[in-house]
Amino acid sequence: MPPSTSIFVSAAAVQQAFAAENYIADRALALSVKLAVDLQKPILLEGEAGVGKTEVAKVLATILDTPLIRLQCYEGLDANTALYEWNYARQILHIRIAEQDHQSRAALEKTIFSDEFLLNRPLLSAIRHPGPRPAVLLLDEIDRADEEFEAFLLEVLSDFQITVPELGTFKAQHPPLVVLTSNRTRELNDALKRRCLYLWIDYPDAEKEREIIRRRVPGIEEQLANAIVKTMQTLRSVDFYKRPGVAETLDWARALCGLEVDVLTPETLADTAGVLLKYRDDIERLKAIGPTQVLAGEVGSARSSTIV
Ligand SMILES: Nc1ncnc2c1ncn2[C@@H]1O[C@H](COP(=O)(O)OP(=O)(O)OP(=O)(O)O)[C@@H](O)[C@H]1O
Ligand SMILES: [Mg+2]
Repeated sequence: MPPSTSIFVSAAAVQQAFAAENYIADRALALSVKLAVDLQKPILLEGEAGVGKTEVAKVLATILDTPLIRLQCYEGLDANTALYEWNYARQILHIRIAEQDHQSRAALEKTIFSDEFLLNRPLLSAIRHPGPRPAVLLLDEIDRADEEFEAFLLEVLSDFQITVPELGTFKAQHPPLVVLTSNRTRELNDALKRRCLYLWIDYPDAEKEREIIRRRVPGIEEQLANAIVKTMQTLRSVDFYKRPGVAETLDWARALCGLEVDVLTPETLADTAGVLLKYRDDIERLKAIGPTQVLAGEVGSARSSTIV
């Protein structure tokens, strides 16, 4: 295996490799990925919903032809669920069978606390990954986990080793490439941030969004793609409760293609608003502004009052 420092020769090489997987990475993201791989540092991607954070980890795993090991974070997530668990059901079954064979207690304990009965959860799986390349470990939506879990994670990410008391310590031979994502529902701990390379992923500009549509919805008419991009950019300037991300752009583009729409009209926008906006108040807001004004890009008075 080549040393990890040579996986990507430059940020441009990262951009190319991502583009080959239909992910448009701007230079800042490409550089962060290169540095994360070279320095073996976790990368923390923050941004609004649907801007392509999770996809970075998926694409990276595909490019490196290595498994993607995903830990979806949520409130109440505990260390056991993230590390390992003993397969109690199988252990009990084994004990019943062993009782009939009159096995000694010591022999039985040794067997039921062996690898065979261990359920590797994402963190341990990533640490035990045999290579030849490191696995990509995606810690998705880390902001949803509790602060205690974050502290525990910090420990694991510091030394990439995990001790299972009954079995011993597992140390990563190929420490995973770690991608953390956060929607910033709360600020993360400074200590965790310090360990990571940080990148804020913004909504794409018009040029990038056009390219994303072209890649992800092949065959779409140029004129329709342009109209979609213009509308999305306009909609994001409105202070909706939840602004539409790239995920919504792609859903909308596919929906409009499916409906065989050639030209975007105010009626079509009104009819398909539910693909873009997911809160009733936001849909009402769109109606109040008027689909015609949105398509014309005339939403000046609807901008957020907090923007000065
Ligand atoms: N730069 C991009 N190039 C290509 N596709 C993109 C890009 N950004 C986002 N997408 C697409 O947009 C969709 C949403 O991306 P993803 O799920 O990664 O967003 P996210 O930021 O993780 O959202 P959430 O916060 O809701 O989890 C995916 O289908 C992804 O492929
Ligand atoms: Mg995500």
